[in-house]
Amino acid sequence: MNSFLDIHTTGKADLRAMIDSARRMKDARNGRPKGAPDDDLPLKNRMVALIFEKPSTRTRVSFDVGVRQLGGQTMILSGADLQLGHGETIADTARVLSRFVDMIMIRTFEEATLQEMAEHASVPVINGLTNRTHPCQIMADILTYEEHRGSIAGKKVVWSGDGNNVCASLMQAAGQFGFDFTFTGPPTLDPEQVWVDFARGQGVKVEIERDPVKAVEGADLVVTDTWVSMHDPQSAKERRHNQLRAYQVNEALMVHAKPDALFMHCLPAHRDEEVTSAVMDGPNSVVFDEAENRLHAQKAVMRWCLGV
Ligand code: CP
Ligand code: NVA
Repeated sequence: MNSFLDIHTTGKADLRAMIDSARRMKDARNGRPKGAPDDDLPLKNRMVALIFEKPSTRTRVSFDVGVRQLGGQTMILSGADLQLGHGETIADTARVLSRFVDMIMIRTFEEATLQEMAEHASVPVINGLTNRTHPCQIMADILTYEEHRGSIAGKKVVWSGDGNNVCASLMQAAGQFGFDFTFTGPPTLDPEQVWVDFARGQGVKVEIERDPVKAVEGADLVVTDTWVSMHDPQSAKERRHNQLRAYQVNEALMVHAKPDALFMHCLPAHRDEEVTSAVMDGPNSVVFDEAENRLHAQKAVMRWCLGV
């Protein structure tokens, strides 16, 4: 039994095996209806709790559909409906849920909530996003890059914008999957130094470049995300937009990347803020494959967690 809490705390061989398994499962579905089960049903008779303390479209739907395709059942719980951290401790909630369900996926605010849940649950816990990281997203992103362009090892990946939770997991993946990483954004929104150090410690090149044009030179993949995350105060919106406007991913920026560079965004996107519609709907954008691949990547994650 394994919990999937972060990319840097999961072994490289396990990460690679999950991506390869996701690819095989995706290929094996072979255009069958989305509601049809897979050929094998490793989650048969298993119940999975999906807890959301923040809104979600992709994570909610992809986990729900993924569990069903694997033959299991889901229970979607909103933070407001539970006694989570209000009526009782996270630890006690973890102990109680573990008596009813075989696995817990949680989207929450503080990383400490996820960690407390994992520490006290006797079933696997999956990180469905915290203020600090979003590992399931990045598993889908690696799968997406590789199905379009082959191995991501040795490639140059550029993040333009806010050094947020998705950026953090991507930097962890740089270390684990062996690709170079350049961050471009204002110094006030830099990613945490601990992720820079982690990736460099694995032997990959990590650069912080304030000039977005220089940053994307030679890029194989350009990635961005919203300028205001769900945990950021709305009062910070105007200041953040002013700081980040120069880091918008638009056609003028993309011409400096390699001609076949892919564009990714975890979605939801704010069109014509962090990315223009021309790029998002353009030939190099793979954002909707990326969204679909949440399903396939997470099915592999869940099987790894349960060892089935
Ligand atoms: N990318 C992502 O996690 O989307 P949702 O917030 O819709 O789940
Ligand atoms: N950085 C965004 C990602 C949403 C999937 C957020 O945390 O709101």
